[in-house]
Order: sequence, then structure tokens, then C-alpha cells
Amino acid sequence: MQIRNFEANNQKKVHFVIIAGFHIVFSELFFNFVGPNLTFLTKTIMKITSADALDGIRRKAAKALSVREASKRSGSVAPCGLELGTPHIQILCCGGTGCKASESAKIVENFHAAIQAHGITDKVDVIVTGCFGFCEKGPIVKIVPDNTFYTSVRPADVEEIVSSHIIAGNRVERLLYLDPGNGRRINDSKHMNFYRKQMRVALRNCGVINPEDITEYIARHGYQALARSLKRDSQDVLDDIKASGLRGRGGAGFPTGTKWEIARKFKSDEKYVVCNADEGDPGAFMDRSIMEGDPNSIVEAMTICGYCIEAHHGLIYIRAEYPLAVERLRIAIAQAREYGLLGENILGSGFDFDIEIRYGAGAFVCGEETALIHSMEGKRGEPTLKPPFPAEAGYMGKPTNVNNVETLANIPVILTRGPQWFSSIGTEKSKGTKVFALAGKINNVGLIEVPMGTTLREIIYDIGGGVKNGKRFKAVQTGGPSGGCLTEKHLDIPIDYESLTAAGSMMGSGGMIVMDEDDCMVSVAKFYLEFTVGESCGKCTPCRIGNKRMLEILTRITEGKGEMEDLDRLQNLASVIKDSALCGLGQTSPNPVLSTLANFRDEYVEHVRAHKCRAKKCKALLTYTIEPQRCKGCSACAKSCPAQAIMGESRKPHVINPYVCIRCGMCLSRCHFGAISVI
Ligand SMILES: Cc1cc2nc3c(=O)[nH]c(=O)nc-3n(C[C@H](O)[C@H](O)[C@H](O)COP(=O)(O)O)c2cc1C
Ligand code: SF4
Ligand code: SF4
Ligand code: SF4
Ligand code: FES
Repeated sequence: MQIRNFEANNQKKVHFVIIAGFHIVFSELFFNFVGPNLTFLTKTIMKITSADALDGIRRKAAKALSVREASKRSGSVAPCGLELGTPHIQILCCGGTGCKASESAKIVENFHAAIQAHGITDKVDVIVTGCFGFCEKGPIVKIVPDNTFYTSVRPADVEEIVSSHIIAGNRVERLLYLDPGNGRRINDSKHMNFYRKQMRVALRNCGVINPEDITEYIARHGYQALARSLKRDSQDVLDDIKASGLRGRGGAGFPTGTKWEIARKFKSDEKYVVCNADEGDPGAFMDRSIMEGDPNSIVEAMTICGYCIEAHHGLIYIRAEYPLAVERLRIAIAQAREYGLLGENILGSGFDFDIEIRYGAGAFVCGEETALIHSMEGKRGEPTLKPPFPAEAGYMGKPTNVNNVETLANIPVILTRGPQWFSSIGTEKSKGTKVFALAGKINNVGLIEVPMGTTLREIIYDIGGGVKNGKRFKAVQTGGPSGGCLTEKHLDIPIDYESLTAAGSMMGSGGMIVMDEDDCMVSVAKFYLEFTVGESCGKCTPCRIGNKRMLEILTRITEGKGEMEDLDRLQNLASVIKDSALCGLGQTSPNPVLSTLANFRDEYVEHVRAHKCRAKKCKALLTYTIEPQRCKGCSACAKSCPAQAIMGESRKPHVINPYVCIRCGMCLSRCHFGAISVI
């Protein structure tokens, strides 16, 4: 046993007692028993000082987790229940942002109250997890060990789940997922099409562990990659990352190992590891879910990166609009420090590394790595020309490695399972899996992870359950505002970085928005351009002025004032902007226009020549009329018209004055006789 002193944050001296590799910290007041205001043990912290001690914690914590893991693998359909003899039951409640917005916190509260009221607190645990991915059907509650997957749970359902299922062993059928294909209830998520074709690598811990408890992460082999890495030569660890074939998930797809190697080669007294958690793409929530559901994987990966590139400081740049992710990261960082997995002399290796959180204000351009670095330095969030790349001169002019959240989430599992395992997944040039935020006109909205090489058809129809309300598929937008709209003919291409670019879109960070026959592709292009115009930092002329001119042209077309020459103007402007804009925002901003021009030119021509929007989305091109044969003269439409554009005597056909009508559509929803049509 040894006793050491050090200055704690509160400037009070504390004593360390080191017993078998664990440091137990006592406050000095407690240790010396002094003063009438004696403070009893202020905090007990277990510092792990060796890989063996880490393994000890893992083995202890793994017991609770092993039940969850076994239940995922089990083929059993028999329900569990205390009266059926199940000794212990775990209730997993989704604590992701999506489910929290649908009262999942109240559900958790009700579970605690119900198990207390039934006197079964010693036999049942309630565990809050990260996102399960199936946000469309949230809030999700999962029962372990029988792996029952309840969907759309409401706080009022809790008592029934506890009394019927947890106690009596009868599943609550009405809360089970209803397969739209065969109308059958499915009790276990592994039998749902949504999950069947997925492979969760980056999301491996989301929906499985309590993200606010580091021991649950450790139980799933967390920090094992770090412990092993610290015993190896850092170049060998880096070589494993290179051998895995992992490419950056932030959009550009740059090989991660090569990036680390470049940062490692630049010698400096100070280097930085930056986690890019800006995630500004509309509709994207991959990174948020990883940080909310598995924050320790980011902490561990950044520390490993620091070891490989010889950096001792990590910075997470996260948008302040992600309060839950921020909170979970803060907890993970604090717990990692307490356990000695961050800070000085990590796991007794002599390596020091710590992490700080920096907040962004939600500007899309601040996700671009040079703008992000300027923003962290307190400067305007504007990109600068590369080279120099951040690996050479980044934060504070020092070598800096910037990686995306999902990229980092893959690092620990690559090192624990081996680079060959990782590179055996995916396609020749795109290894591993990719997380997508599946949204738009699709039945199963949510977060999915599939092996690279999965086709768009498999994602949209098998996992996504097809287009909503039986409508016809029209397009899928991948890559967010920098991406493009792909059509039916692209559905069978295997998704990887190269194939998506060749098809006129891009992987981007993983936003995937499905559109149906009711979507106007000119309006879609206009929507994305409005976004990029609004988010442009204005530093360079092609992006600042060029995109504005393109937006003006698109606006003209959607208002029926376009001309055929406008289509050529759009094409020319787009190629100039792509070639001459300073950063990736401008260079990719014309993609939605170019891809819709290439794949849906007939719709542009229709808007220009026939002043017609087939999807009836461009208001200025619509004409509301009343069919006299159907009109009963009830005046319901006239009473609701905000422009007083409808005239007619009672019980006689009414008419709409097209010059006064503001095309609000109110009359259409009021007429119960189908007398109003829109052309
Ligand atoms: C306009 C713009 C926005 C970007 N936003 C993000 C973002 O939100 N998250 C991210 O990881 N990368 C974003 N990137 C890419 C980063 O510049 C950088 O390539 C990435 O963080 C590198 O990490 P990776 O190699 O792990 O992909 C953006 C790029 C551009 C041009
Ligand atoms: S391309 Fe746009 S966002 Fe990028 S530097 Fe130029 S103006 Fe700013
Ligand atoms: S609501 Fe329909 S039926 Fe009634 S007056 Fe208007 S158009 Fe005619
Ligand atoms: S669309 Fe709106 S403004 Fe036009 S007639 Fe109907 S209710 Fe009046
Ligand atoms: S937030 Fe609960 S399933 Fe996604």
C-alpha cells in the first residue's frame, strides 16, 4: 500500500491510497478527522492503473451486459416474467433525443414508480439507453432476457407492461411492432425487416448500454483497444488503422490511417486531435445518436489517435443545439478522468491525454475543417485554402488531426476485432459499414447501419419498408445539401464512395431522404440551394454571388417566369462555381441542381414551357377552379377563403376569381363534394 498527495481541483490536499492497482481518493478533512464541520468522504474514485485492473472491471460489469447480449442472440420466443420463474429482468428505455421528445423520460419515471409499487425493485432494473435506430416507432422499450421490443410506448402503458409482462409473463400484444407486409405482430427486433439487413458496428452500443455509465461501456470491451494500444508501438497501432481500410465518414472519404500518419510526421511541441461533431446537414442525426448512445467510444478513439500522432490534447467541436449529446459527452469525459482513462499517465503507460468540449453555434460551414478550427480559435468561422492542411498547421497553427464522430466510433472496434475483420466488410475500396439517417417519404424513418455495398433498393424497400402511403418512388437524395438526387435507375448500385459519386451524388455524411411522386424536383433543388445560400460564409465570389444567381433563376422557373435559356445558364453557372469556389460548401452546392437537371429535365421543361408543376408544389403555377356540375353552392369554401376570391349565390355553383386567389388551398380542404380542382 502506498500513500501519495496531490493538489485536487478544489485546491484541497487529498491522499491517495493505492491498493492492488486502484486509487481510492479521500478528502484530507476525512483523512485527518479535523474540525467540527468535518466533511465525510466527499468522493470515492476508482482509478484504473493497469490493463489487468481494467479487465477486472470488465469481467464484473459484463455480467449485467451478458444477459442483454445473450437475449439478442437467442432464438427463444417464450416471454419472461417473474411469476414464470425469471430471476431478473432488465427494462431498456430509449433515452435518445427522438424518444425523449415523445415523453420517454416520463416512461422511465413511471417504470421506477411501478416497480416500486409492486415491490420488485430487487428483481427489475430500468436502464436508459441511446437510440435504437427505429425512431419512427419510438418511444422504444425493450425487455431482457426475452428481447421483447415494444414500440410507440406511452407513459400510460407502463403499468400494463409491468403487471402483464414483467410480473405475469404475458406480452402486451398491442405494443408489439405490426409488420405491414403480413399484418403480424413481431415481438423480437431481430425478426423485423428494419433490422434484418443491418450490421451495427459504429452503432454497436447504441440501444444496448447505459451511455452514462462507463462500466457498461467497459463491459462491452470498451477501453480494451486503448489498453492494448498503449502497450504497443504507436506506429503499429496506426498501421492497423491503415490496414483496416477505414475512410473518413465526414464526407470526403479520406483514408483515416493515412491522415493520422501525416499528422504524426509533423513534429511539434503541441498537437491536437479534433472530433468534428458539427453535423449540419439537414435531416442528419448519425453523429448525434452516436454521441448520445455511446460517448465513451469517441473518448477512447480520440485518446488512441492522440497516442498514434503524439498529441496530448483533444477537442470536441459540437453544436450547442445538441444538449443531450453534450451532456453525455461531459459525463463520459468526467468518468474517464475518474477512472484514469483520461488525464496523466493513462493506465500506467506514461501517456497523457485529455479532452475539452468546444461549442459551435450551428453554422453549416463550421463543419468544414478549416472553418471549424478558426471557430475554435475564436475567429470568424470561415474556411481557408488548403494547403496547408490541418495535419500540418491546424488549431493554433499546430498539427491537428480532424475526424468525424462516426469515423472515430469505428476505431476501438477495429483494434479489438482486428483490421482484417473490418476490411472483410464492404466493397473493394470502401470498407466497413455506413450509418444513414433514413428520412422523407419512407415507412421506416430512422437510423440505420449497413455494410458498404448494400444497394439503395435494399435500404429503401427492405429496411425502410418502401415509400409511404403506397406512393410511387421518385428520387432519393444522398449526401445532404452537397449531394444529388438519384432515381429508379440507380436503385441497384452498391453504395460506396465511388459509385455514388459516379452516379452524380455522393456519400456525404449519411443523410438519405426519399421522395415520392408528390415531390417537385425543381422545388427540391431550390430548397437545397436556399440552404447553401443561407449557409455560405460569403468569403468567395463564386459561392456568394454565383449561388444567389442560380437561386434567382430557380425561383423564376418555379413562378412560371423561366425561359429555356435558363437551363443552360444554370448548367454553366454550376460548373463555374464547382471549379472556382474556395471550399467544399461552394464546390458541391450545385450538385442538387445538376443532378435534377440530369435526371428530371422534363420537369424543368414543363415548368418553363407549360407553366405546369406536375407535383402541384409550385404555388404560382397552380389554378384553383370550381366544377359547376359538382358544386352544391354550400358556400363553405367562400367562408374559409382568406382572400375573398370565391363568389356565388347560396345553392348555386360558385366561382373563383383567379386574379384574387392567393392559392392557399384552404377551399380545397373545406369542400366535401370534390367540386374544387387544382391544375
Ligand atoms: C461545408 C462543409 C461542411 C462539413 N460538415 C462536416 C460535419 O458536420 N461533420 C464532419 O465530420 N465533417 C464535415 N465536413 C468535412 C470536414 O471538412 C472534414 O473533411 C471531416 O471532418 C474529416 O473527418 P473524416 O476524415 O473522419 O471524415 C464538412 C465539409 C464541408 C465542406
Ligand atoms: S465556397 Fe462559400 S462557404 Fe466556402 S469559402 Fe467560399 S463563400 Fe465561404
Ligand atoms: S364548398 Fe364545394 S360545394 Fe360548397 S360552394 Fe364551395 S365548391 Fe361548391
Ligand atoms: S386557394 Fe385560397 S385564396 Fe384561392 S380561392 Fe381557395 S381559399 Fe381562396
Ligand atoms: S431516439 Fe429512440 S429509437 Fe431513435
